[in-house]
Amino acid sequence: ASFNQITSGLQLQTGIERPSKPFLIGIAGGTASGKSSVCAKIIEQLKHIDSDGQKVVIISQDSFYRDLNEEEKKKASKGEFNFDHPDAFDYSRMLQALKDLAASKSTLIPKYNYISCAREEGGDLLEQPDVIFAEGILTFYFKEIRDMFHMKLFVDTDADTRLARRVARDVQERGRDLEHILNQYTTLVKPAFEEFCLPTKKYADVIIPRGADNIVAIDLIVQHIHELLRPSKNHFFSLPDVSESLYG
Ligand code: ADP
Ligand code: C5P
Ligand code: MG
Repeated sequence: ASFNQITSGLQLQTGIERPSKPFLIGIAGGTASGKSSVCAKIIEQLKHIDSDGQKVVIISQDSFYRDLNEEEKKKASKGEFNFDHPDAFDYSRMLQALKDLAASKSTLIPKYNYISCAREEGGDLLEQPDVIFAEGILTFYFKEIRDMFHMKLFVDTDADTRLARRVARDVQERGRDLEHILNQYTTLVKPAFEEFCLPTKKYADVIIPRGADNIVAIDLIVQHIHELLRPSKNHFFSLPDVSESLYG
């Protein structure tokens, strides 16, 4: 099964004990860098650490693409709408969803369709997860969102590898043809990556070269998350309120 299927809405039981408040992990990186794959690997390994259940969810920033007007939809169909610019996202809705989850409230995550470039009816109701992974190209771009994360990971994969993966994925899963993908990539995706995504690497606590292939980095991160979430160690309970302390 493709890792893409798990973005937004999947709820897993992992083997760590329930902390007093939700733990938020942000994951940023360029398109097709392996953000979703890294989340999936971390969760898979956390599940095996011990047997008590915790609810872990992955939410994707892509679920918060804003609605487009008619003119923007026409551009999108030709690969000429800039989906890599911060203005393409419904920032307030994503912030509110994270605030709900951080406050242990349920929240509805919209469902996004890459073929129609629009939100679908309904969405996924997330009910009080203990650990939230939020992944996306610009998850560290907006300060208020960035400051909510207790841990920030940046997946750093070579641009040529990312482009090769993106071509394969967008043809297979997002209904695009090669000309559309390459035109969008060179005119919009790559310049926006350099302008908006890459500069946010400096906010990461951990940079993961090569993404999901980097089993050593993933193993270290898993061990660290496990330590933070263990009530006996009490690390998690002494975490500062990140919204007030970091990068002020
Ligand atoms: P992102 O979430 O950053 O867009 P994904 O994890 O969805 O990236 O990966 C993009 C594409 O590349 C997917 O089709 C995925 O299956 C594939 N992929 C990701 N990591 C690897 C890897 N290490 N080796 C081979 N293919 C990979
Ligand atoms: O999964 P990934 O991080 O690659 O998703 C983000 C990418 O999806 C952006 O680079 C953007 O160009 C692309 N996108 C798209 N069409 C949409 C929405 C997003 O090509 N309708
Ligand atoms: Mg993705």
